[in-house]
Amino acid sequence: MAGVELHGIRKTFGDVVAVDNVDLEIHDGENLAVLGPSGSGKSTLLRIIAGLETEDAGEVRFGGVSQKGVPPHLRDSAIVFQHFALYPHLSSLENITLGLRHGIGLGKKEAEERARDIAERMQVQHLLSRKPGQMSGGQRQRIALARALARRSSIVLLDEPLSGLDAQLHAVLRLEIAQLLRSVGATGINVTHDQLDAMAMADRIAVINHGRIEQLGTPDELYETPATLFVASFIGTPPMNLLPVTDAGESSFGAFAPRTGVTYGVRAEDLALVGEPLADDWSLSGVVGLVEPAGRDRVVQMTTAHGDAVAFRCGPAETPAPGQRVTVAARPEAVHVYDTASGGRLGNARTVDLGIGVAA
Ligand SMILES: Nc1ncnc2c1ncn2[C@@H]1O[C@H](COP(=O)(O)OP(=O)(O)O)[C@@H](O)[C@H]1O
Ligand SMILES: [Mg+2]
Repeated sequence: MAGVELHGIRKTFGDVVAVDNVDLEIHDGENLAVLGPSGSGKSTLLRIIAGLETEDAGEVRFGGVSQKGVPPHLRDSAIVFQHFALYPHLSSLENITLGLRHGIGLGKKEAEERARDIAERMQVQHLLSRKPGQMSGGQRQRIALARALARRSSIVLLDEPLSGLDAQLHAVLRLEIAQLLRSVGATGINVTHDQLDAMAMADRIAVINHGRIEQLGTPDELYETPATLFVASFIGTPPMNLLPVTDAGESSFGAFAPRTGVTYGVRAEDLALVGEPLADDWSLSGVVGLVEPAGRDRVVQMTTAHGDAVAFRCGPAETPAPGQRVTVAARPEAVHVYDTASGGRLGNARTVDLGIGVAA
């Protein structure tokens, strides 16, 4: 078993900086998700860990041992790709054992034993005799995963292995994978653009943007205190409302908190409809637009006089009608304060000096 350390990893393709000075330490047995939008460098980073791509600078270590110059098949890692390829003319059993026999040189008997063992753990024994054409997308993906896990590598690398599957299967498989990785004690690195996948599967999440890690933390830490405007806008459904203050000290909060150069962030679930806000509440007024059912709640969109679109949640009984003018308020602790230029978090509206009470 082994943890993974990344030290100053950098990779460029021509003018494109795909991975920009990434430092990460993934503990032995941990499930880490690397979460970011398309093109943010996730696959490149994973391929560098697997040895399929060579870093321009920096070093990858497995269990403290540098992997410089170690080819992919000699690394203690297995990778599952987004577009996995099973051999169409081979059964699942043959697809799984092929990698074990040619990849790590096991004999036929031992390879089959391992294949049956992992198939049992994944409850896909009944699929072992089928060829890919005789299975659904989800079943094929389970077999592709079984093939990777049968190697019994200490480190399992997953490159969006669930994209392309329908939402329901997606939700089932991501939990299965997370459980399976825990049960075999593997260190898992799962790259995804899907925050729900990351939240459901990972012990910790590294949010990546333009090849840089913007924040590393538990799902709760990322949700509760996003370290940057990017993370704030990327995590949460709907994303956090971000309300910049103009150079004149105006924002959707009016001239109430006129500190220039900051952006206020408040989540839909931290805003509540109010008649008369409490003295130190942060309130926003606007005109209701779309109302979206969200399970037990409604997500209501409104537009403030300042021109920001703001989403808030409310119960079905109190849902206002489109066109209605409403006021919502949050506690100051729930109002995040970001530096607009750098995107970094300064604190919340209780802890940061915002010049409240000073005329703009
Ligand atoms: N082999 C390559 N040649 C040129 N550019 C590449 C290559 N691989 C990736 N890139 C570029 O590097 C950036 C990161 O790509 P990638 O790691 O695939 O992102 P992600 O997996 O997050 O979508 C993108 O701008 C992509 O176009
Ligand atoms: Mg990718």
